[in-house]
Amino acid sequence: AAMFSISAFAQAYPSKPITIVVPFAAGGPTDRVARDLAESLRKQLGDVSIIIDNAAGAGSSIGSSKVAKAAPDGYTLLLNHIAMGTMPGLLRNMPFKVESDFEYLGMINDVPMTLIGKPDLPAKTYKELTTWIGQNVGKINLGNAGIGSASHLCGLLFQNAIKVDMTTVPYKGTAPAMTDLIGGQIDLMCDQTTNTSQQIEGKKVNAYAVTTAKPLTTAALKSLPTLQSQGLSNFEVTIWHGLYAPKGTPADIQAKLNTALKAALKDADFIKKQEALGAVVVTDKRVEPAEHKKFVAAEIAKWTPIIKAAGVYAD
Ligand code: MLT
Repeated sequence: AAMFSISAFAQAYPSKPITIVVPFAAGGPTDRVARDLAESLRKQLGDVSIIIDNAAGAGSSIGSSKVAKAAPDGYTLLLNHIAMGTMPGLLRNMPFKVESDFEYLGMINDVPMTLIGKPDLPAKTYKELTTWIGQNVGKINLGNAGIGSASHLCGLLFQNAIKVDMTTVPYKGTAPAMTDLIGGQIDLMCDQTTNTSQQIEGKKVNAYAVTTAKPLTTAALKSLPTLQSQGLSNFEVTIWHGLYAPKGTPADIQAKLNTALKAALKDADFIKKQEALGAVVVTDKRVEPAEHKKFVAAEIAKWTPIIKAAGVYAD
């Protein structure tokens, strides 16, 4: 049979549904970004259907390795966040190499985090929270999406900053963790605004602070102080998301996906959805694959020593 030349193959691409693997539970912040982005990507790729596959666990390494091992044909992609920068420092035996087992398709957004508490926590401000924490040392449960997750990283930095150890309760994502926080089963969580904004607006949780250097501007979040302004000097955590394909995906399919991503990031509908939740859509050069790859390498170099110093590992 005639060999399909790559360009003919790429011409026909996509000719079947594309799967985006989200390495955390449905309904959480990573899932939110993926579903919003998929809506816009579909428009750019000829109305192709895009399936979201929530392959959760092990701080996103389960879903990430699923994509690292998938056929490099452009039909299985990974949407992951800062974990691509923290896993190399956290996981002792990595099932894949972040820097060489993926093709980098571009960055998507930067998402602030918020420190929130269960609704019946008797502290309404960050100051009152520090008093409550001081009175409950050794009894505080902090929810996260497992070692290696963004909520784990933020919770770790917070505990280190205030020098109080908390019991961390891991979930398959911060959607199930949020359910338990609202139910009062856990006390605190540091989670992305894409998941907390609506709960804060709906007064389902107590909100204490944001993790960005500057206050946020959305109606639900603008009244929250930054942790920096509350005395946690240079505390800053922002969660970035990017798109990846398995190593060896044909270059012109990568290019087609990057072009579609760039158009999706300019889609007013996508921008509106993301900004309403406090997320900032990438408008800089990190949307270029080479810059995306460079950025992740720099993040690995930045977070590895911080994680090692904190003495945290996940087997
Ligand atoms: C995280 O903490 O890494 C994310 O919030 C996980 C998720 O998307 O549920």
